[in-house]
Order: sequence, then structure tokens, then C-alpha cells
Amino acid sequence: MSNPVVTPSTQSILPGTVYPGAPDHHHAPTALPKGFEAQADELITHYPVSKRSASLPLLHLWQETFGYISPEGIAWIAAKLDLQAINILELVTFYPMFRQHPAGKTLIKVCRTLSCAMAGSYALCDYLRQECKVGEPDAHGLATSPDGKYSVEFVECIASCGTAPVIMINDDFHENVTQRRADELLLKYK
Ligand code: FES
Repeated sequence: MSNPVVTPSTQSILPGTVYPGAPDHHHAPTALPKGFEAQADELITHYPVSKRSASLPLLHLWQETFGYISPEGIAWIAAKLDLQAINILELVTFYPMFRQHPAGKTLIKVCRTLSCAMAGSYALCDYLRQECKVGEPDAHGLATSPDGKYSVEFVECIASCGTAPVIMINDDFHENVTQRRADELLLKYK
């Protein structure tokens, strides 16, 4: 009997162990949104020589859709590309931009590249972590508060080096962020 977790054509994904050593979690999506598989198929057409090259685009699609890469996502993408789960898992663990856990409701990204670092982004990130009570970052550098309200992470240059330090809160961009400005922003995103 085929396992619906690893059958790419299915629109339903059952939670459960999908590959040996998969982390236990309770956030597995139960259904792919309408059009998701069509989007994945379209992305794969960009790589006619080897569909394996669609691994990263499919991982981005999965994370944009579900917020993180679950074990079910790893298994689904692997099956879709005729690969083993380990081929996808190694990408997820290698690239820091992929998350294996859901981020908090408010996701704060702090630029740590040169201009922002020189303008104090490390101290700013420490301050934000403290104010949001997010604790220590996980292996992907994401720190999330126990109530799931906030996540804070470092990112590389977000292309506004002249107005450092720069942060993003969800999809909003904020420049010249001092600790005082950070306080105002946290009130706004409370
Ligand atoms: S270095 Fe931070 S935006 Fe470029």
C-alpha cells in the first residue's frame, strides 16, 4: 500500500514518522493548499536537465507556504523529485535560511553584515532577544519565545547598508534602528 506521506500526487498528508530519525512534532500540515502541487510542477519545468535542481526552489515554496520545513515536507519533496529524504534533509540542515520548526507570530530579522554589524546590530539583536524573551537560538539560528509570539534571527545583508542597522519585522522594513526605536516597534507589534 502506498504511503500518502510520500506520494507526490496526493493532496493529503498524514502526520507520522516519515523517515528514520525524523523529529517528533505536532505541527504537520494535513493538506496541501489548492494549487500547491501545480506550483511545484511548474518550478520543476525550469530544470529540464535534472529535476533534482528544483530541490531548493521546492524547499522555498514549502517554507513560504507552511512557515517551516516539516518532516512531511522533506518526504514529499524527495518523492516528488525521485530522491531519498536524506538528499533533501541535508539541504535543510545545511542552509540556515530553512527552518525545521515554526517561527513565532512576529518574526524579527536583524541584519548582521558589515555595515549593520559596525552600526551595532549585534547589540541590537541581543537587546531584541532579551526584550522578546526568546532564549537561545536553535541550530538554524532562530530563537523563539516559549509562548510562540516572537522569533528573532540574524540575516545577511538586506540591501539597505546606508541606513544601518536594519531589521525586518514580518514583511516590514525598518532602518536606523536604535534601541529606543526597537522599543517603539515592539509596542507596535505587541
Ligand atoms: S549590511 Fe545590513 S543592510 Fe547591508
